[in-house]
Amino acid sequence: MRIAVFRKAHFNAAHRLFNPSWSDEKNDAVFGLCNNPNYHGHNYELEVKVTGEVDPETGYVIDLKILKDLIYEEVEQKYDHKNLNLDTEDFKTLIPTAEHICYMIWKNLRKRLEDHLDLQVRLYETPRNFVEYPA
Ligand code: NI
Repeated sequence: MRIAVFRKAHFNAAHRLFNPSWSDEKNDAVFGLCNNPNYHGHNYELEVKVTGEVDPETGYVIDLKILKDLIYEEVEQKYDHKNLNLDTEDFKTLIPTAEHICYMIWKNLRKRLEDHLDLQVRLYETPRNFVEYPA
């Protein structure tokens, strides 16, 4: 039996959307308020979905304690209360849009999960704006 299990998490982080190959005028036109040179913050909400076969011995797809610890190590420790542009390796060159943050979370968790498990990540930048990977 295949089933999906979910774990929610939360982090606060600052960012600035800025493409260094563009002029200030173009950055302002495309990114608007999110281009604010002094950065701004979001309360990000994360939903991690892991799908797989139920292990007949444990009755688990994945022990949620393990998933909780993985999210803590790969997401909260890296991003919570950080400036994503300045304080993280993941966004040194990648613009920290919700799309890219969601993808990097997926990538960082994916490498820590067993191959037989499927992973999907949904990231809310605001209560009404959210993204999901894989699409
Ligand atoms: Ni923003």
